This record gives sequence, structure tokens and C-alpha cells, in this order.
Amino acid sequence: MDNNDMKQIQWFPGHMAKTRRLIAANLKLVDAVVEIVDARTPLSSRNPEMDSMTRNKPRLIVLNKCDLADKKATQKWINYFRNNGSEAIAVDCKSGKGLKNLLPVVRTKVLKELMEKRERSGMKGAAVRLMIVGIPNVGKSSLINRMAGGKRAKVEDRPGVTRTKQWVKLDNNTELLDMPGVLWPKFEDQSAAVRLAFTGAISDDILDIETLAMKLLVFLSENYPSSLTERYKIGYSDDDTGLILLEKVGKKRGMMISGGEINTERAAITVLDEFRSGKLGHITLELPEEKEQ
Ligand code: G4P
Repeated sequence: MDNNDMKQIQWFPGHMAKTRRLIAANLKLVDAVVEIVDARTPLSSRNPEMDSMTRNKPRLIVLNKCDLADKKATQKWINYFRNNGSEAIAVDCKSGKGLKNLLPVVRTKVLKELMEKRERSGMKGAAVRLMIVGIPNVGKSSLINRMAGGKRAKVEDRPGVTRTKQWVKLDNNTELLDMPGVLWPKFEDQSAAVRLAFTGAISDDILDIETLAMKLLVFLSENYPSSLTERYKIGYSDDDTGLILLEKVGKKRGMMISGGEINTERAAITVLDEFRSGKLGHITLELPEEKEQ
């Protein structure tokens, strides 16, 4: 990926340090951490420090937005996370698909030992407390709202918990700790930032919109060529540049400006919108094999 044309992304280290402190201070109040990632970008959408911050807690990785991701790739990622010591499940918080597995997996796999210990010591009824974390836009609120449904209610303040956090009681046995604050994704890795811009997780303005769409079109032509041929009915050859692909899409959609020129800006907006809403099919932007290489 050519990074010279990217604007440097601004970090806000102060906010990040505050969130990090908040997570560290609250970890002792929970039994496990539920980390939500985007199934289309399972590594790029993780906070780089999450592993070290939560290393002493059992953890479940939730690959959300699996309705938009490539099914086979999602399964590869589930295997990848399991091989690396974290239980993982795929869900779609828009429809609720897969969410019914979350608590059973937490109880029977992620917290198996704790559950057995509680059973032995007669504390079977004690509530399981889970911290929900994830970078902005991965679907934390959607997940909490879906799981809590109409019953969403605040649990009373607890000693040692400042008011900025919110406990959400799901039932008599489960409470979620909805963490405020922002965890940044992997901004320091520019290709990760580009993937996050493709999905709309971070602002488009790290690149101008046409450059972003051109990069996406090149990725799609190399990895999911049918997404282009089926949706836009365009042919392409291996040496088509992003600009040529963008012009083909614009031409096919009749996006012209006076003088017969193609309106590549409109074409770029269309490509990005259609990708983000799933109209180009089920697409995953990174694979575990690439990480291993
Ligand atoms: P956050 O709290 O982590 O910041 O994320 P939030 O739940 O606000 O979700 C961010 C966007 O992602 C929302 O779209 C939400 O609807 C969408 N989303 C969440 N989970 C899923 C999923 O499993 N599949 C799909 N396709 N989308 C999901 P939005 O456009 O910002 O809002 P809205 O149009 O839903 O109002």
C-alpha cells in the first residue's frame, strides 16, 4: 500500500490514557472481557493494547457485523482467535443473529472453571459480570441494546465505580459493564487505517474519497472480482488501475459531467456506500494468513 498520499492520523493520547486507566481500574469488578471487533477487519479493528491490558482476564472475542463479512473468512478468524487462546463467536447485532450463543459460550467455555468453582462452593447463583470493550463503531451499543432488549436498566452504583460507567443488568445472572471512553484502533499501521476507512469506522478524510474508492476497487478486483462484475457489470483486466476501475463504474452508472467527463467523485461515493451497506456482497478485508506471513 502506498502511504505517501495519506494524511497522518491525529492521536489523542490523553483520552487513550484515561480509558486505559478506567479499564485497568474496573477489570477487578468483572469476571471476563467481551471484546467486540468488526468481522470484516478483525485485527485492524482491535485496540493494539487490548491483549496486554486484559491479559489476566478470560476473554471472548465477538466478531460483529458478520452479515457483511465473508463466511469462510469469518470461520478462519474464529479458528485463529481460538488457536491464540481466546474463545470467539460471530454475530450480527443488526438482526440479532448469533447473539443467543454469547452467554452460553461465556458460561460453558470462557468461564468454565469459575462456574465449576462456584458450583462447588454453593455460589451458583452469583451474577456473571462482563466488561464490554471495542473501538468506536464496532457495534458496542447495538450489542448491549440487543442483549438487554426492552429490559435495559441501570444497575445501582457500586462502591469504587465512578458514575461515568454503566452497569446493564440482563437478568438475575448477568450484568454488563458498558465502558465509556474511546479505545483507538491500530492507527499507527497505515494499511489498517485504510481498511477502517473502507468500512467507515474512521473518517473518510484520512484520504480523499476518490483515492479511497480506487484502493477499494483494486482490493476487490484482486480478491472478490465477482463483487464488481455482478454489481457493476464491468469487465476488467489485471493491469487496470484504480482510476480505470472507478471510471468504468462511473460510466456504467451514467455519472457524467459536462464535456463527457466521468464524475469520479460521485462514482467513489457510490462504491464506498455500496460496499459499506453490503451491496457488493460478503467481503472480508484481511485474513489470518496475511498476519502470519
Ligand atoms: P459503537 O457503540 O461501538 O460505536 O457502535 P454502534 O452500536 O453505534 O454501531 C455502529 C454502526 O454499526 C451503526 O450503524 C449500527 O447500526 C451498525 N451495526 C452494528 N452492528 C451491526 C451488524 O451486526 N451488522 C450491520 N450490518 N451493522 C451493524 P449506523 O449507520 O451508525 O447507525 P444506524 O443506521 O443503525 O442508525
